[in-house]
Amino acid sequence: MDAAIVTKDLTKIYAEGRIEVKAVSSVTLQLNEGEVVGLLGPSGSGKTTLLSMIGCILRPTDGSIKIYGNEITGMDETTLPNIRKKYISFIFQGFNLFPALTAIENVLLILKLKGINKNVSNQRAKDLLTVVGLSERMHFLPRDLSGGQKQRVAVARALAANSPIILADEPTGNLDYTNGRKVMEILRNLAVEQKRCVVVSTHDNRIEDIFDRILLMEDGQIINEKRRLS
Ligand SMILES: Nc1ncnc2c1ncn2[C@@H]1O[C@H](COP(=O)(O)OP(=O)(O)OP(=O)(O)O)[C@@H](O)[C@H]1O
Ligand SMILES: [Mg+2]
Repeated sequence: MDAAIVTKDLTKIYAEGRIEVKAVSSVTLQLNEGEVVGLLGPSGSGKTTLLSMIGCILRPTDGSIKIYGNEITGMDETTLPNIRKKYISFIFQGFNLFPALTAIENVLLILKLKGINKNVSNQRAKDLLTVVGLSERMHFLPRDLSGGQKQRVAVARALAANSPIILADEPTGNLDYTNGRKVMEILRNLAVEQKRCVVVSTHDNRIEDIFDRILLMEDGQIINEKRRLS
């Protein structure tokens, strides 16, 4: 399998406060095209920090990250956003929807940034929101949606970008079992059918069977790796 992401000795130390926190410590891993990888571990073990670094939204303190062969550590602020735009979609733990835009406008914005024709975009945004079960709520603002509905808008928005790498931070955290599985099955199909690399952090052990590989984090390190038996 071809590598989408390769990290070596990746480390993040937060030092904003009075005490330093080593949130991720010397993580070396390879994430491939066509696989769905689960990042599991207790709260505070470093999952969001690790995903944010490989998603090019947080600078590592040490170590290296290659995205499709591009070394991104040390890349300047003008080049890095291009890598992010070309390769990565991120589903945030806190959704990060634009509050003044409706569900469909949140999805359309990404399509606009991609330069996709308006008529095509409109249809695609509607299709994606229908896939995640929000056809009735396309024109609602985020404040008028439940946590689970906002989460599904965030998923639809990430799918709209068509990126080869999809990083999802607790994408089923606010969803009931049925909707959680639906979202995970959408992500799994993207990996299998379109050779995307999908990495999902989760506490939800009801979705463990979806993953090809599970990386277990503790205290900023990957302490165990399990592969799907098949
Ligand atoms: N901006 C920050 N400044 C200082 N410390 C931070 C910051 N962000 C996270 N941390 C600390 O880094 C460690 C890892 O946090 P992180 O958010 O990566 O964990 P997580 O595994 O995603 O947890 P959760 O499951 O609760 O989302 C924690 O001890 C956290 O308190
Ligand atoms: Mg987290």
